[in-house]
Amino acid sequence: MSIGKLFKENSGKLVVEIVSRDSEVSALKDSFKELEAKSQDAAIEKHVPYVEEVDEGYLVKVGKETKHPMLAEHFIEFIEILVDDNFLYRKYLKPNEEPEALFKVAKGSKIVAKEYCNIHGLWKN
Ligand SMILES: [Fe+2]
Repeated sequence: MSIGKLFKENSGKLVVEIVSRDSEVSALKDSFKELEAKSQDAAIEKHVPYVEEVDEGYLVKVGKETKHPMLAEHFIEFIEILVDDNFLYRKYLKPNEEPEALFKVAKGSKIVAKEYCNIHGLWKN
């Protein structure tokens, strides 16, 4: 399934997303590299998104004890959750905002959270 796959331009910062379920992505391969979401973080600044179920839905923080920086030159660009492989919700962030997102959505049984750091790339829980 290609839905939600992200690709980054080889010679720039452009990130594109596959939005159709059965799309052919080979056309992108010459100029773009697929972003593989990392889930293990040994650095002091934490990238792995931490999902907390709350009354209204889901609160996602980056990271759990130590917040990721939100500086102009290094920040979390967006946080997203995919609920039950059907509903994709995304919050875009700016420098100086909190590295977290509250998604007031219907709950599901399978939650995959991802976040994109402008320096360190894509991460998932
Ligand atoms: Fe980072």
